[in-house]
Order: sequence, then C-alpha cells, then structure tokens
Amino acid sequence: MISVRDVDLCVGARTLLSGVSFHVGPGDRVGLVGRNGAGKTTLLKALAGVVPCAAGRVARTGSLGYLAQDPAPADPAVTVTDRILSARGLDRAVGALRAAEAAMAAGGDEGAAMAAYARADDEFQARGGYAAEAEAGRVAAGLGLPERVLAQAVGELSGGQRRRVELARMLFSRHDTLLLDEPTNHLDRDSVEWLRGFLGGYPGGVVMVSHDVGLLADVVNRVFHLDPGRAALDVHNTTWHAYLAQRTADDRRRARERANAERKAAALKTQADKMRAHVATATVAKNMARRADRLLAGTEPVRRGEKVARIRLPEPAPCGRTPLGAVRLEKAYGAGVPVLNGVDLAVERGSRLVVLGFNGAGKTTLLRVLAGREAPDTGRVVRGHGLRLGYFGQEHDTLDGDLTVRGNLSAAAPQLTDGEVRQVLGAFLFRGDDVDKPAKVLSGGEKTRLALAGLVHSGANVLLLDEPTNNLDPASRDEVLGAVATYPGALVMVTHDEGALDALRPDRVLVLPDGTEDLWSSGYRELVAFG
Ligand SMILES: Nc1ncnc2c1ncn2[C@@H]1O[C@H](COP(=O)(O)OP(=O)(O)OP(=O)(O)O)[C@@H](O)[C@H]1O
Ligand SMILES: [Mg+2]
Repeated sequence: MISVRDVDLCVGARTLLSGVSFHVGPGDRVGLVGRNGAGKTTLLKALAGVVPCAAGRVARTGSLGYLAQDPAPADPAVTVTDRILSARGLDRAVGALRAAEAAMAAGGDEGAAMAAYARADDEFQARGGYAAEAEAGRVAAGLGLPERVLAQAVGELSGGQRRRVELARMLFSRHDTLLLDEPTNHLDRDSVEWLRGFLGGYPGGVVMVSHDVGLLADVVNRVFHLDPGRAALDVHNTTWHAYLAQRTADDRRRARERANAERKAAALKTQADKMRAHVATATVAKNMARRADRLLAGTEPVRRGEKVARIRLPEPAPCGRTPLGAVRLEKAYGAGVPVLNGVDLAVERGSRLVVLGFNGAGKTTLLRVLAGREAPDTGRVVRGHGLRLGYFGQEHDTLDGDLTVRGNLSAAAPQLTDGEVRQVLGAFLFRGDDVDKPAKVLSGGEKTRLALAGLVHSGANVLLLDEPTNNLDPASRDEVLGAVATYPGALVMVTHDEGALDALRPDRVLVLPDGTEDLWSSGYRELVAFG
C-alpha cells in the first residue's frame, strides 16, 4: 500500500506537482497519464522512493516492485531464468540446492552433505519450489521469451528482450504493489494481450504509466491525470472509458458556461458604454462594467487544445538511384546464434522498407550496422552516390546525455546558427530553460523529440528509424506519423506499431533473421504486431 500526503515534487527550479494526496491499496489499478514531460516518471520514482519529495510524505507498507522506463542493465553474466527467479530469492535457493547435490555426489562427509541438502531443499520449497519455477517460465512465455532464451545470459539479449526480462521479473515477484513505467514499450501485440489479462486480475495494487489506450481500457479502475499547467494531479475513481466521457462532458460544460458568461458580459458592457456618457448614470455604468468582469472571471478556463510539437523530417538532398545497400551482412554476438545471417539489401531513392522479425531477431543490429555504428563480422554496407543518412536509435543512442539540449542539436546539425537552433528547438517544444538541460534528465518522450529534431536540417535522404513512436504521447505520436507519411526520401523502419506501418505505406519488407527481401503485401501485416 502507498499513502501520499501533501506531496510537492520539484525538478530543477520547476514545481511539477504541489499538494498531492492519494492512497493506493490492494485491487487498485491506477493509470497515470499526461503529456510527455508532465512528470509521470518523476512521480513514480517518488512513490518508489528513488527520488525525494520537496515536501509531504510517502508511506509504503508491504513489498513494492518498480519497473523503470529504461531499467538499469542487470549483471550481463546472469541467465534469464536466474534473473527472473531472483525476484523471489529463488535463484540463490536453486543455486544452493545444485551445490548440495554436487557435494552429495562427490562423496566425502555424507552426513554433512545430507544435512546441507535438506536445508537447501527446505529453503527452495519455502520459496515456492518447482511450482514457482514453472510459474516463472509461464510469465516469461507470456511476454514472448521462449524456452531457448531462458538459459542465455542477459548480456546476450537484444534491448527489447532485456526489457521483457525485467518486466517478467517484476510480474513474477508477487509484490503487494507494482509501479510500472510504460510496460508495453518494445512489446508485440501478443505480449500486450497477455499483460492485459495478467494485470487485470492482479490482486495487489498497480500504478502504471502508459500511452497504450487499449491497455488502459482493459486494466485500470482509477485514472490519475497529471496537469503540468496547474502542477496538479486530478484523481478519477473510474474506468478509462468513464474518465474519457467525463472529460468530454466537462469540456463541453466549460465551453457552454464560458459562452453564456461572454454573451451576458458583452450585453452589460454595451449598456455600460451607453450610460457612461451621462453624469447621472456614470456610477451605475462603472458597476455594470465591474459585474461583467466578475462574470467572466467566475468561469473555469476552457481547456485549450494541448500544444503539439511541429515535428518535421528533413528535406532530402539529391542522391543516386540506390543510395544505400548491403551485401551478405553477417553478425553474431559472442558465441551465440547469428543475428544477421547473410543479409542483402538495396534501398532505392524514395522507397519505403519495413524490417520485421521477432524480438531479438536482429532488427536494431541491422539498423546500427547500416548507420555505421557497429561493424558487421563479414559483408559490407554499400554507400551510394550522394547518400546522406539520418539515424534514429531505439535507445536514443544518438544523444549525448552530458551535453545540453541545445548542445545535442548543435552537434547533430553543426551548420545551424544559434538562432536557427533556437527555432528548431521551439518547434519541437523545447522552450526557455529547457534548452540548457543536460539530455540525460529529459523524459522519454522529450528524448525522442530531441533525437528527431536533430534530423530536420541534416538533408538526410535515407532515414533509419528504430521504433520511432515508443514513449510518445498520442498527440506527439500523430505528429511523427504525419511527418513519416509525407516524407519524400527513403525510409527504413523497425516498428511494432500498426499505426506507424499505415503511415509508412511500405513498398518492400525485409524479414529477419533470414534476411529475405520481398515486395510488401498485406499478408505481412500480422508479422508486424506479432513480430
Ligand atoms: N534533474 C532535472 N533537472 C531539470 N529538469 C528535469 C530533471 N529531471 C527531470 N526533469 C524534467 O521534468 C519533467 C518531467 O519528467 P518526467 O520524466 O517525469 O516526465 P514524463 O511525464 O514521465 O514524460 P514521458 O511521457 O516523456 O516519459 C521533464 O520536463 C524533464 O525534462
Ligand atoms: Mg516517463
């Protein structure tokens, strides 16, 4: 359980939230929503005790699990199974059991070995035993981590797979309260479906940040909306659909009341203007004008449409017919299975290619190799005449966390003047002090916006986009998709988002790990969501 009393949250000089109180108990499933940069992650961190509150108190009872928006990497040598089991201390219990078995098999002091085995077995059973191990396997499978991955070291997995492992670990933990920050990032449709079922029946408390409206609709029974303009948290004890309906009704009521007040005030003012001319009625006129002002001040402000970044993609510079290609690309990590297995590729000017494949199939690796950020084991990338590449990395790896927002854009587009830098940043909604923040403190959605801003003046004629809609709130996502839909250059995109696919309108598809290239046809659509 979590109890929050009169909490203020500040970052830098800004107050994100002031005077917030609420309580989250068993069976409460809270959807925490708000625009990118509103402070959702910061509030979740405060609930988890990772960052302090400027004022007020957060009291926690029972155990608590926190899944960060970008979880810190686990020890790369640990196996997936052990990482998941460690949530309940079962990894140590299994380890002790195996060691005791080995000691018994080795002979020596038999009595001591038997006693050690009995102790280890008691501990293992107390933590749930084989049933718990099987449960861990089920959770992993539900989140798209197949059996063969379980014995692999965490360090050998792709970014998307590692995130699934952390989510699986959190769900397996059986904590009294779960705090989940954007759990569906990197998940395919099957896994999201499974997660809906799991969280819908969770007996403890859940506070979840998500932009996935399907997940919110299925899971949450309370909605907390963070309004950065008022530094307020609006608590709605209803389902997602009821919350949306309430908001629409509320917006209509405000607009109606405001229109009424404006009409009455205008009539009063016209009357007052007429009466002001005469000495005898001048005082009455002044009072009428005051009444008109009071009427207007008494209505709640009409919520204006939320500000959205004007996200643009670059004007492509001229280039030859096939600006980018690849010949027999191969790549494997460590002694593992190859993630690129002889990939051939030809990206024509203005063409649109979608890269598909299950999690860990090598999609991010392919884009990194094409972008020149990683070298293939064999094969080569062919840079055509006039090629200018723009790369957007899934983990925002084109940003330098220690440079400021302004510094990152200047580094990405060195030809821009200070004025132009400010202008581009303004269009991407970075205003005032925002531009002097180091990139590492930006929210997930803000990082995505900054990375995309770096592309605008790059003249890139081939864009490599790796999951560009992750982390974005719905309004910003629509902007990105609009820009993708009208971009005239060539696009190579990795995505699990069917909306992004509709915006891309691919003409070709590359399926990993085999690396088969084919003309796009609707039959491939299923692979996008389930890939
Ligand atoms: N140390 C800091 N200094 C200055 N500003 C900060 C700091 N840490 C966070 N911020 C700012 O606080 C705001 C809230 O960030 P937060 O990560 O909580 O947003 P969010 O609602 O989770 O957004 P998103 O949907 O993009 O994940 C952002 O504008 C961010 O840039
Ligand atoms: Mg966040």
